[in-house]
This record gives sequence, C-alpha cells and structure tokens, in this order.
Amino acid sequence: MEYKIGLIGCGTVGQGFLEILNKKSEYLMDKIDFAAKVVGISDKLKGSLLIPEGINLAKLLQILNQGKKISEYLKGKKNAAEGMDPLEMIEKCEADIIAELTYTDIKTAEPATSYLKKAFRTGKHVVTSNKGPAALYYKELKKLAQRNNLLFKFEGTVMSGTPVFSLFENGLAGNEIKEIRGILNGTTNFILTKMEEEKMDYKKALKLAQKLGYAEADPKADVEGYDALVKIVILSNVFLDANIKPADVKREGISSISKEDVKEALAEGTRYKLIASVKKEKRQVKALVSPQKLPLSDPLAGIMGANNALTFDLDLLGKMTIQGPGAGKIETGYSILSDMLAIHHHLSKQI
Ligand SMILES: NC(=O)c1ccc[n+]([C@@H]2O[C@H](COP(=O)([O-])OP(=O)(O)OC[C@H]3O[C@@H](n4cnc5c(N)ncnc54)[C@H](OP(=O)(O)O)[C@@H]3O)[C@@H](O)[C@H]2O)c1
Repeated sequence: MEYKIGLIGCGTVGQGFLEILNKKSEYLMDKIDFAAKVVGISDKLKGSLLIPEGINLAKLLQILNQGKKISEYLKGKKNAAEGMDPLEMIEKCEADIIAELTYTDIKTAEPATSYLKKAFRTGKHVVTSNKGPAALYYKELKKLAQRNNLLFKFEGTVMSGTPVFSLFENGLAGNEIKEIRGILNGTTNFILTKMEEEKMDYKKALKLAQKLGYAEADPKADVEGYDALVKIVILSNVFLDANIKPADVKREGISSISKEDVKEALAEGTRYKLIASVKKEKRQVKALVSPQKLPLSDPLAGIMGANNALTFDLDLLGKMTIQGPGAGKIETGYSILSDMLAIHHHLSKQI
C-alpha cells in the first residue's frame, strides 16, 4: 500500500525520517508492503514544497545536506507552496498521514496542537514526536481522532524509537500496569555517568554534555527534570488513564548533586539516577521526578551514558525493563516510520 505523507517541520527528526525512507524504500515494500510518497513539506525557515506526484527524496536530502532551502528543489520553476504555512499545507496536501515534527512547547503545546487538529479535521492520520500535544491534550486529541476514524500516534515522544506505546498494543497487550519507573532523560544520565566514572564535577560534566550535543545551550529543561516530567505525564495519561498536567507532578532535577554525593552513594552500594515514576494508589495517580539512590541490583542502576530505560510492573508478568536510545536523528526518525507502519498494519486489517 502506498501512503501520501505531509511533513510539518523538517529539522533533525524530519530529516532523519526522510533519510530512512530514502534508504529503506525497497526493503519496506518487499517485506511489509509499505510505500510512502512525501507530497508536501512545510518548515519555518527552510520553506515549503507541495508536489502531489511525490518529492524525489534523494534530491531533496542533497539540498538539505548542503544547508540550502527546500524551495531550491524547484529552482527556476514556480513553487506552488511558496509562503504556504503549515495549516494551509495540511489542508491542501491531500496526504493520508501528517508527520508533525516542529518544536515542543510544553506550556501551550502550540502551534503543534492546532496542526494536529487541522489534520484530524481534514481526514488525515497523525504521527508526531512532539511532546507538547501528547502531554497536554492527549485525551482530547485521541477523541477527535476517533470521531474522525483516524489514528493519533506519538511513539517518539517517550524513548525516541525504542518501542513503548506499541509494546502494549502488541506483545504486552492484556497486561495492566501497576507502576512505571524510568530514566527518561539521556542528558542527565550522561552527566551522572561522567560524574561517577570520570569523577567530574557537575559543571564540567554538563559542559561536556553540551559540547557533545546532548544538552542544549540552556540546559534547564533537562537538568531540572522538566523533560522527564513531560514524559511521565504522557505515560500516566496513556497507560494509567490519569488526567494529570505537568503542574501536578513534583519535580526535582540533578543540579544540586555533587560528585561527593555520587561517590558516597557508590560507597553505600547505590547509584544516583534521575527517576521519573508513576503509580496508582487507591485510585489516585502519583507521579514524581527526582534523583534517587538505587541499589546496584536495580536494572535501572545499570543504565549508563545517554541511554533511557523503563521498568513496568505488570499484573501478569511482574517487573519488566526495556532500555534503548532516547534521542537522535535516526532513532527518532525511526519512531515516525514505526508509527506509520502501525497505521499501515491497522488499515491493512480493515481491507
Ligand atoms: N531530536 C530528537 O532526538 C528528539 C527526540 C524525541 C522527540 N523529539 C521532538 O521531536 C520534535 C522535532 O525535534 P527536532 O530535533 O527535529 O527539532 P528541530 O531540529 O529543531 O526541528 C524542528 C523543525 O521544525 C521547524 N519549525 C518550527 N516551528 C515551525 C512551524 N511553526 N511551522 C513549520 N516548521 C516549524 C523548524 O524550523 P526552523 O529551524 O527553520 O525554525 C525545524 O526545522 C520536537 O518536538 C522534539 O521535542 C526530538
């Protein structure tokens, strides 16, 4: 089956996704009967492109890799999408699936939420790695999608391309989740690892994380626990049927942890990790983000570097831990593909 795709935002994740599609199109067709034709792209500074017969991805990627604008693709020819904003693109591009890959705004979840609503109202499935809409408006967006007989997929919002949500639609379906605990921010885990393994102080480890591109110039969202908090809110609302907002979650980051604290913890047979957790207690959902000293026997204590991990406590299987990458161009680009394959799987069953 062939799907027409519209892309809103073409930065790291968008380009990672396009690279995967370009590289694996034959494999996806042969093995999964999945083909994708990108018909429209709208990006803030790189420009927009609307080509109903499909964009040549190899040519487009070459242009993007040279740091040029998307509109270079039509050099010399009239660009029908010149100046087209995402809302207009979503309406006009006749895509089956919109991939929404703009920035996360955790206070308002905009403009992404408006793009998602527009997609559902114009009959398009949505795939996104943007944490804002899933954290603030999951239930509303899911309802809107269902009312229109469409799917809302957001695998990349938690642990990037490492499967979390799809696990419970497939292999772990039927299990009820009693508790979730995890390391959901790679930057803080990288910093804590360097503070232990190379005896760096917090500031030096943070600088290294920034140099290597793990941390932003303004690292607050990572080191103060806001990024992990948004992810535990998504997990709470999706898996524990909660209705919590980021402001409902107690949060503490790692900026007050010293290398002496890390050393002392280790001497006690424990290791500091930034843990995001949620548990249902007497019908109340309690979510928390805080640095915790874990016994070294805890699977989460063994997660080092920029990796992410989640331990689920399940009614049928007991404790189960998954670990994998939590960020990256190809890793998160893959989450977009995997959501599209889930849509393909769903639609194939209906035929
Ligand atoms: N990178 C990761 O590893 C990762 C992992 C998990 C989740 N995510 C999430 O995935 C999303 C995309 O991440 P990213 O790393 O690809 O970010 P990015 O590199 O900053 O790319 C975002 C792209 O969206 C464009 N954009 C911003 N506002 C727009 C608007 N209103 N309309 C159209 N285009 C707009 C930006 O254009 P300009 O640059 O021209 O302004 C940029 O090209 C974010 O929500 C992020 O939180 C990322």
